[in-house]
Amino acid sequence: MNPLLSLLQDGKFRSGKSLGESLGVTRASIWKQLSKLEVETGLRLERVRGRGYRLSDPISLLAPPLLSEHFGGIGWGCYFFERLASTNDKARDLLQAGSRPPFVVTGEQQVSGRGRRGRSWLSPYGENLYFSLAWSLDEGARQLPGLSLSVGLAVLEALRELGMPNAGLKWPNDVLVGERKIAGILTEAFGDLADRCTVIIGIGINVNMMHGSDELTQPWTSARLELGHLVDRNQVAISLARKLSSYLAVHCHCGFAALRHEWEDKSLWQGKDAAISSSGRHVVGRVLGVDDAGALRLLVDGAERRYSGGELSLRLIQ
Ligand code: BTN
Repeated sequence: MNPLLSLLQDGKFRSGKSLGESLGVTRASIWKQLSKLEVETGLRLERVRGRGYRLSDPISLLAPPLLSEHFGGIGWGCYFFERLASTNDKARDLLQAGSRPPFVVTGEQQVSGRGRRGRSWLSPYGENLYFSLAWSLDEGARQLPGLSLSVGLAVLEALRELGMPNAGLKWPNDVLVGERKIAGILTEAFGDLADRCTVIIGIGINVNMMHGSDELTQPWTSARLELGHLVDRNQVAISLARKLSSYLAVHCHCGFAALRHEWEDKSLWQGKDAAISSSGRHVVGRVLGVDDAGALRLLVDGAERRYSGGELSLRLIQ
């Protein structure tokens, strides 16, 4: 955690003198560090003569020791970075360098956050949660079907626990509030798919984002927008880890089949008309649910058809 930002995160004024005293540096050094931080993080600072400095908007920084303690309690390692390209990419690098799963990679900012279908994932400093879990599948690819849908249930339950009972799932693994996306999941498998392999489960949750950017092409929301107050990102990360630990245990022991009905109950588009698209081709049908492998079941011209694959996307027909 950046010590200077940690002193300013509540959005209250602090004088250069008191900041300098807390950190054992001069006022000039505080001024210099803050100017650099503004450029690096994109955070907006106010400077008022006689009052000092404050962040234009309070933030909730991640507390790595707290996260390590909680993740350690469920047997997971924890790596934290102020700024990184992508937590999924870093998890892969750590695996290649010999780190043993399970472990979590998280950070304050991703500069090349990745979404599904080649999209980028907006990851501003200190606003949202960027979380990747490196997880071993003892039975290899046999445990992959439906995995990202089981993860979706864990993310959804963490958000409901935060106070968003109306959040729900959209196939394959988005979490929405109404028609607005609040979280997305990107799973990537490595190693010997026929034997023991590792998956990197990347999760992005819009926690405190208020303004977004023009890059966002889909309607979106955040926990802060829904709840009307700044949300503690550590609480979100800890709750997410607990839910993931329990849903992954069920998934790995019993398969997605054991979670399928719960997933359908929590799907926002169950029974609705939707179009599924891939490479410019669309098929329209009624959403019947999912099968034991997490494939979408769609009623098309009176017959059930099943769809699976990360490149597919679904949209509602109004
Ligand atoms: C989607 O397109 O809905 C999936 C978004 C996944 C974003 C997360 S943020 C943490 C992890 N690191 C990445 O680069 N992507 C995932």
